[in-house]
Amino acid sequence: MPPNASLAPADPIAAVTHADPYPYYRDLASTRPFYFDPALKLWVAASAAAVAEVLDHADGRVRPAAQPVPPSLAGSAAGDLFGRLIRMNDGVAHAPLKAIVARQMAALDLSDARSRARALAAALPRVDHDDAHEANRWMFTLPVLAIADLLGLPLERDTDGHVSTRVAGFVATFAAAMSPLASPADVEAGVAAAQWLTRLAQTAEDRETADIGVLAALAQAGGDSKMDPATLTANAIGLMIQSCEATAGLIGNTLVYLGRSDWQGADIGASVDRVARIDPPVQNTRRFMAADAMLCGQQVKEGDAVLVLLAAAAHDPSSAAEERAWTFGAGRHGCPGDALARVLATCTVDALLARDVHPDRLAAGVRYRPSVNARIPSFSSNN
Ligand code: HEM
Repeated sequence: MPPNASLAPADPIAAVTHADPYPYYRDLASTRPFYFDPALKLWVAASAAAVAEVLDHADGRVRPAAQPVPPSLAGSAAGDLFGRLIRMNDGVAHAPLKAIVARQMAALDLSDARSRARALAAALPRVDHDDAHEANRWMFTLPVLAIADLLGLPLERDTDGHVSTRVAGFVATFAAAMSPLASPADVEAGVAAAQWLTRLAQTAEDRETADIGVLAALAQAGGDSKMDPATLTANAIGLMIQSCEATAGLIGNTLVYLGRSDWQGADIGASVDRVARIDPPVQNTRRFMAADAMLCGQQVKEGDAVLVLLAAAAHDPSSAAEERAWTFGAGRHGCPGDALARVLATCTVDALLARDVHPDRLAAGVRYRPSVNARIPSFSSNN
């Protein structure tokens, strides 16, 4: 059993960063499939059936009606970017663009993505002897650079051919500013990051280039459907933002899993798939009711919020045989990047192992980054 795992989490939010939340999730899924938590002021969906029902419900919205953008970001470049993301919209601001994004993602050649990610890994030097430092750095860097490359964004290289990680730094900064735990300084940095990323994407769009990356393909498809170019640019950047923390979590949790098993010679792709189910990076998401409704047999009211426990659904004893990776969501907002995320996570873990990072050293004293929904290890060097 992992360290400090004996005390059950206080609530489903604390479960996200708990050493071993899975017995607690299993218990919720079987004994309290859908309930109201008065302290959190949230309905909680825990069983696989309840999670599926909430995510499929027509009145379940991804943002509160009165708050399309978090107040901390509203009125800034970061708020503008946030408010345009398909992930944060419903109805007409979501469906047509989601169809375009999903089509582009489905059309990606994953073996090409794999080769490009490997080439990028070769252009990222190991900068530190410390395994923990390297793992923390790579999990937030390589997948984002790989997506920037697929988008067709220019990646700077130094004279040695090493690729600059700057774009990944700005993406991580923006992703951190979106968290409800963000400080005013995090938000300020997020605004600067949003401006930088938007400029980068616009510059790339303006170039007359024969290299048709996903960005150009999105702009083309969106232009054909007469969509607002700023919204298309935002959603291209959104692909990097969406993938950043979640893929970092998938990589980190895979390293922990390998570190606690017989990792030498392990099948990394299969380990990533297993971790996506059993120790998932995105543990929950939320829905906000746009109308009074019957939900999972209960009367819920307009404005009520529902915490959707994807990680509990994955451990629901009544659907354990399903082997489904609930961490990628379901229904109309389901993740269009799941196959790419698995490829990039596998490449990143492979690259770290090839650089002699030892997962057993990392797993010894893992802690989790503070988060209300993402389970992302923070490896520390004194192990
Ligand atoms: C391990 C990695 C990832 C995980 C666990 C993950 C998980 C999720 C989840 C749970 C959602 C739905 C949220 C909700 O319904 O409330 C989502 C949406 C989304 N994801 Fe991912 N994701 C990952 C990687 C990626 C990657 C690599 C991309 C693209 C390059 C991506 C693009 C998106 C987009 C565009 C949406 C919004 C879809 C919509 O709202 O219709 N994700 N993701």
